[in-house]
Amino acid sequence: MVQCTNQGYVPITATGINTSEVVKVDAQRFTSKSLMINGWPLFWWLTVFAAVFMIRASLLNNLSTPEGISAMIQYSVRWAVPLIFLITATSAMARLFPSTITRWLMRNRRYVGLAFAAAMAWQGVFIFWISVGHPDHYYTNIYFLRDELEGSSGYLLLTAMIVTSFPFGRRYLTAANWTVLHRAGVYFLWAYPFSVYWWNIAYYGSSLWLDYLFYGLGFTAFALRIAAWGKGRWASQKATGGYASAGKVLILAGLLLAVTGSWWQEPISGLLLASAPSQTLELWLPFWPFQPFLPLGVLGLGTWLLTIKSSPALPETQVAA
Ligand code: HEM
Repeated sequence: MVQCTNQGYVPITATGINTSEVVKVDAQRFTSKSLMINGWPLFWWLTVFAAVFMIRASLLNNLSTPEGISAMIQYSVRWAVPLIFLITATSAMARLFPSTITRWLMRNRRYVGLAFAAAMAWQGVFIFWISVGHPDHYYTNIYFLRDELEGSSGYLLLTAMIVTSFPFGRRYLTAANWTVLHRAGVYFLWAYPFSVYWWNIAYYGSSLWLDYLFYGLGFTAFALRIAAWGKGRWASQKATGGYASAGKVLILAGLLLAVTGSWWQEPISGLLLASAPSQTLELWLPFWPFQPFLPLGVLGLGTWLLTIKSSPALPETQVAA
């Protein structure tokens, strides 16, 4: 049996109760009231779950060798990466797909963020362990100034974000400064793993499926942010004619560039690093010259052109008519 509402046809039971509404209300009640999946319990679930796997992997690896510790550095960060990608995409998903789940994610962003920090702490411990316990191995095989600057900046931002996510730290910042810190921190902490997986694929030609999965998730997370930004602009202004066509072409080009990095990375890197100043910057400036982010830049440019002010959006009623 179906019932016609302004959202279309929805099933109702023989008793006249709209089942999808009941499920929706129950889901809302569950996600907002259940203590187990909100706030600190959610943090502890995520943290303990990852910790169990971390302890298991530590027991299986030979931690008396630098190779064993290095493997744990790599393993531990894989538990953190999905969480930072999720955090990056959360507000965009809430704007693009408002639902019980995305509202629940929005409410719990802080706790997912702290679970990310806890997973990163494991990596921090193993980095400390290898650099202090095996300095020869560390400085010969791992240390590279630019990576060190990128990684340390990431940990510094993460520490500042943790401290300011509690009232005692938050009171030192204005609301605007707090937003700047947390947004910049999320972008940086997203950019680091995203670029690692891009290089693994586009430069090293990785055959590991996890590299492709994480790259895809990282790309999607940021592409969703661009789409949400575009949706906001689209509501008030839409491009027409040449701007609209150029916007669509660039969006397609951005998506194409995202899946063909291994083809263009070499010539584009050569071009971007042709000058001596650029080569110097590459030695220390995090992410320079930003090859992994070029497809997203093109996607953003396309979205901007598609939503440039050439004709104001029609009011809802006129669109429907
Ligand atoms: C000074 C700080 C850091 C150092 C010394 C460091 C060092 C390392 C090392 C040694 C590896 C293993 C490489 C390998 O064996 O293939 C690694 C992997 C990785 N690190 Fe870091 N790291 C640092 C900070 C960070 C930060 C802040 C992030 C951001 C989330 C991060 C994300 C990653 C990722 C995504 C991998 C690759 C894991 C994989 O292969 O799946 N690292 N790092």
